[in-house]
Amino acid sequence: MSKTYPKLFETYAFAKGIALRNRVVMAPMTTWSGNDDGTVSDEEVAYYRRRANGAGLMLTGCTHVMPDGIGFTGEFASYDDSFTPSLRRLAEAARSGGAPAILQIFHAGNKASARVLSRLRRDRSTPATLSPEPSAMMKFST
Ligand SMILES: Cc1cc2nc3c(=O)[nH]c(=O)nc-3n(C[C@H](O)[C@H](O)[C@H](O)COP(=O)(O)O)c2cc1C
Repeated sequence: MSKTYPKLFETYAFAKGIALRNRVVMAPMTTWSGNDDGTVSDEEVAYYRRRANGAGLMLTGCTHVMPDGIGFTGEFASYDDSFTPSLRRLAEAARSGGAPAILQIFHAGNKASARVLSRLRRDRSTPATLSPEPSAMMKFST
């Protein structure tokens, strides 16, 4: 593979100074396995640890930056400081192979999962600020 795609195994330096040891990037992938309280689960930590070795850059799955921005069931949260310990665990796992890691932040907007939102509103008293429309992302939600 290194002969067929030699560039893939070359280093890469971003303008602001972050250097990658190779150009293999782990794509951001939601795992649907966060804890019900929005924290990163042990399974997710293990998932990132298993994949961290060898990659040049790790991208995490998306995390919602507001309570009503959740797109997927079991998506870990990042909308207030109470999630810092959870996100620190994720960062340690994603960086455990020595590569830099990027947290993918997002808000699902009008594609937010209606079913997840209604459950969250019930469980966490989240205000109903959105009227989500059905979307392709809903297929992934349970
Ligand atoms: C299980 C799964 C979860 C994914 N979760 C995310 C995500 O959280 N954020 C994102 O931007 N893309 C997500 N994607 C899209 C992937 O990062 C990637 O862009 C897509 O699979 C296409 O990759 P390819 O061009 O190498 O085929 C997900 C894909 C899969 C299969």
